[in-house]
This record gives sequence, structure tokens and C-alpha cells, in this order.
Amino acid sequence: TTHRIAVIPGDGIGKEVVPEGLRALAAAAKTGGFGLDLVEFDFASADYYLEHGKMLPDDWFERLRDFDALFFGAVGWPDAVPDHVSLWGSLLQFRRRFDQYVSLRPVRLLPGVASPLAGRVPGDVDFLVVRENTEGEYSSIGGKIFEGTDRETVVQETVMTRTGVDRILKYAFDLARARPRQRLTSATKSNGISISMPYWDERVERVAEGYPDVATDKYHIDILAANFVLHPDWFDVVVASNLFGDILSDLGPACTGTIGVAPSANINPERTFPSLFEPVHGSAPDIAGKGIANPVGQIWCASMMLEHLGEPAAGAEVLRAIEDVLGRADAPRTPDLGGNATTADLGIAIADAIR
Ligand code: NAI
Ligand code: MG
Repeated sequence: TTHRIAVIPGDGIGKEVVPEGLRALAAAAKTGGFGLDLVEFDFASADYYLEHGKMLPDDWFERLRDFDALFFGAVGWPDAVPDHVSLWGSLLQFRRRFDQYVSLRPVRLLPGVASPLAGRVPGDVDFLVVRENTEGEYSSIGGKIFEGTDRETVVQETVMTRTGVDRILKYAFDLARARPRQRLTSATKSNGISISMPYWDERVERVAEGYPDVATDKYHIDILAANFVLHPDWFDVVVASNLFGDILSDLGPACTGTIGVAPSANINPERTFPSLFEPVHGSAPDIAGKGIANPVGQIWCASMMLEHLGEPAAGAEVLRAIEDVLGRADAPRTPDLGGNATTADLGIAIADAIR
């Protein structure tokens, strides 16, 4: 088989780490015996914006929709384009139009990466945050009245649909079922948010009936956030609404060390549309152009993408190679990992470790 991938490096260090992701992908394809058809696009970048006055061509949807996946770097160059324009004009369009209703972030301690959680070692921390990515607290329903007076009042509604809630829960339960620990934790706040969150809990209970093999528990979001730090070993798959998931999906990776190693995926599980794989970090203007960005987040994205493409062995091999290299005493380390290696030094070492 040959997988068709749209490659969109974007801005800043996106252009430096994406080639290292592609280097790992090429190595994995060679040993895994599958083909890759890569097509690179220059849109979703400040350069494209400065030339065309928009982030994307008008026919971007038609041009991207038939790819098997999108391999994305980072977008944003605040000196040239305001951040809300670059983000809304590109990434958020992809997420919406391609109905990428799952945001998935692994939280896993890597060898050789200092964690802010004292005393934790790789193996203690290995879970997935599954965030609902299309509805919930981030609706645009609401309004403002009595503007400019003492009675000024704003209201913004939370929207939860049965379809929207059930589909994210099913995705999370399926993930949990396929993992050795078969455990699912739901983020709630039904003690304080008295209509939508009890509904979320009710749907968790209902969907859980179809997964008797998965152990299910729930925590209110406040203590859940505390437990990410205090007891990260308790978690396997954590599912959350849009707002709670947004917070947890930054807190989780922060617990595992440098932002440079964290990957994320925006997934359309039905594969009606391509899913998008991008590191958690942005374009890092402060270090862009120096060739010192950590490529591990992007390479880990390659691993997640391979798994999504139906190449789980190749995906696991890329992650194994990352851990193998970072665990070596003489590993090339980029400055954020305490060394002085370049992006390419680390990327080449990982690609060479892929068997
Ligand atoms: P950022 O993630 O780009 O950088 C934050 C800090 O982390 C910086 O000090 C940077 O040098 C460091 N860092 C980030 N990635 C690194 C890597 N791979 N290796 C070593 N150090 C790394 O976030 P910031 O500065 O808030 O945003 C910069 C631009 O990126 C903005 O335009 C923002 O909108 C955009 N952005 C885009 C995202 C995306 O494409 N999904 C996500 C986050 C920000
Ligand atoms: Mg966020």
C-alpha cells in the first residue's frame, strides 16, 4: 500500500522540524514495506499570506480532502500576521471542515527528558488525553445586553448534543479497550455545573454499558488536574469536554518535560476526511532559523500518523527509536534537552535507529 500525505510545514520552526519528521517516515516506510506519496504545500504560512492576502487558497478543501492524512508543522508569525488571523485562517478551518472532532494527546514520560514531576520515571506516566473538539463550552451562542451600563450582562451557552458527546466517548472507550490497562477516566464538574455536566456523566454511564471490559471512573476537573501532577500513574485514557480537555491537554504534556517533545493529533475517526498530525508547540519565532529546535514532537507525530494509517508496527517502531536515542547517555541533545545538538543531529540519530 501507498499512503498519500499532504505535508504542510507552515511557519518558523515548523519548516525545520517537518523535514526531520519526513526523515523518520521515510525510514519507517523502508523497513515497514509500504509506500508514501508526499505532496508539500506552502499555504497556511505567513509567506503565503503576505503574497496572497489570505492564509489558504480558495480551493484548499478540494485539494486536501482526498489525502489520507495531513502532516502539519506549526502556523503563526506574529510580526507579519496577527495570530487570530493565521490560526483561524488555517488550522481551525482544517479542524472544522474535516470534522476532526477528536483531539488526542499522549502524555508519556520519555527517557532522558527531565520531568517537572519529582521522582517520576518513564513507565510511571503513560496516558492519553482525548478532548472533544467541536462543541461543548466553546459555542458562539450567547450575547451581551445593557452594554456600557451597570447592568451589563454577558451569557455564553454550553452546547452538548447526544451525537457529539457519544461519538467522543465511543472513540475514548475504543482506545481504552485496545490498551493493556483498559481504564477510562472521565472529566466532569457535575457538582457545580448542574445541567450539562450531569448530562455528560449520564452519557458516560450509558456508553460504558457497551464496554464492560473497560474500568471506568470520573473526577471533577479541579481534583483531576491536581491528580495529573500528584498521581499521573492512575491514568490510562482520560476523556473530557472541549474546555476541560483543552486545559488537560496542555497540563498533561507540561508534566512530561519540554514542549518540544509533545505530539498531538486532530482525528476524524470515520476517515471521511483526513486527520491532522501536528506537534503541540508553535512556530517558536525566538529560536526559528537557528536549526536548534527539538524535532521529537514532530517525529512522534509521524508515529501517531502511521498508527492512524493502519501501520501500527511502524508507528510503534518510530516511538521506540525516539526512546532508544533519548535514553542513550551520548544522545544528541538539542538545547531544550540540555545539549548543543542541532535539529538535524537528533533527527538523523532517530531515523538511523529505526529498524
Ligand atoms: P511556541 O510553542 O512557538 O514557543 C513557546 C516556547 O517554547 C518558546 O520559547 C520556544 O522557543 C519553545 N519551543 C517551542 N517548540 C520548541 C521546540 N520544538 N524545540 C525547542 N524549543 C521549543 O509558542 P508561542 O511562542 O506562544 O507562539 C509562537 C507562534 O506559534 C504564535 O504565532 C502562535 O500563534 C503559534 N502557535 C501555533 C500553534 C500551532 O500551529 N498549532 C500552537 C501554538 C502556537
Ligand atoms: Mg490549548
